[in-house]
Amino acid sequence: MTDPENTRAREFAARLTGADTSAWASTFAQVPRHHFVPSFYTTTGDGWKEVRDGDPGYLDGVYSDTALTTQTDDRGIPNSSSSEPSLMLAMLDALDVRPGNSVFELGTGTGYNAALLCARLGDERVVSVDVDEELVRVARHRLAELGYSPTLAAGDGAAGYPEKAPYDRLIATARLRYIPRAFLEQSADGAVMVLPVGFGVARLSVTGKAEAHGRFLPVPAYFMPRRVEGVAPRFAELETREARPTSVDVAEVLDRLSFPVSLAMPDYTSCTWVDDDGSPNALGLWTGDGSTATATMTGRVRQIGPRRLWDELEQLAVTFGGIDSVSREDFGITVTPDGQRVWYGTEDGPSWALPAE
Ligand SMILES: C[S@@+](CC[C@H](N)C(=O)[O-])C[C@H]1O[C@@H](n2cnc3c(N)ncnc32)[C@H](O)[C@@H]1O
Repeated sequence: MTDPENTRAREFAARLTGADTSAWASTFAQVPRHHFVPSFYTTTGDGWKEVRDGDPGYLDGVYSDTALTTQTDDRGIPNSSSSEPSLMLAMLDALDVRPGNSVFELGTGTGYNAALLCARLGDERVVSVDVDEELVRVARHRLAELGYSPTLAAGDGAAGYPEKAPYDRLIATARLRYIPRAFLEQSADGAVMVLPVGFGVARLSVTGKAEAHGRFLPVPAYFMPRRVEGVAPRFAELETREARPTSVDVAEVLDRLSFPVSLAMPDYTSCTWVDDDGSPNALGLWTGDGSTATATMTGRVRQIGPRRLWDELEQLAVTFGGIDSVSREDFGITVTPDGQRVWYGTEDGPSWALPAE
């Protein structure tokens, strides 16, 4: 690392952590983001453009508080990134690590978060798993260049890593649809989990082998979903279905209701169709079981599949009808041997089952 780059890393950490004098402030200063993100992608009118170390704007990008796409799939959809640093800090703060704690991470990605954990806790206490073997190989190399050697493995992180369990802390940096059973089984007594669910991050205390509960952090979080096999949306079939009217406004679904929708349908994906002038004219929603719905801005709905997604949305719109702004920290998750529920207000308030294994 050159001196100007070192200085950028330290200045960035100071800006990010502000008046925060916690141990994470000095850890962010110690672990340079640019080492783990030697290039990233930005969108242009023509698709993705790679910005490499040395290119104009590279250091400004890497030392800005933004998520950076580091890999896209064959269809050009991002499938790995370096998360927004302030969100990483909020999640690490919430993880509340103590000296001697062991940590499991789902989603190694660039290895940057794993490096921060190693710097704080020591290599032997950090395990990180990514579904993408090549990412794991590259992260291992980059971590070793800075002298870190956590346990890294390729595979579905939802299976945890039993060889090194139990863990005092578990963190995921990909969006989950439910709390993986393996996380509970591999938790030490009193473990803390910080996990993205829907468009938020839940902080849960583990209170038994199949029990955990907690609330969402106030921060918005739009992590890429944990990669799983799923059925493609059935838009073509939908065309043959009769449309019915709905009073739920598509604009509301994309805005005020988007967080509750992301919890009630934590595995959903959406897309919008736009007019020539770029304004949306319809919304498509689907879940991995093949349930698909479309709704036009003019209030016509079609749906197909095992779940009637728009019916579920209409129920949510009733629940949140009189509530102007929906705060993430008003929601929580309870896991018991009987299942997993996300709730609003209090544990006995309105709730939705998470589609657990
Ligand atoms: C936002 S990135 C992780 C950022 C990373 N923590 C860092 O500091 O660079 C999300 C990562 O989750 C990984 N991922 C997606 N599904 C996964 C799964 N089922 N198991 C483990 N990792 C997964 C992706 O390959 C991607 O690298």
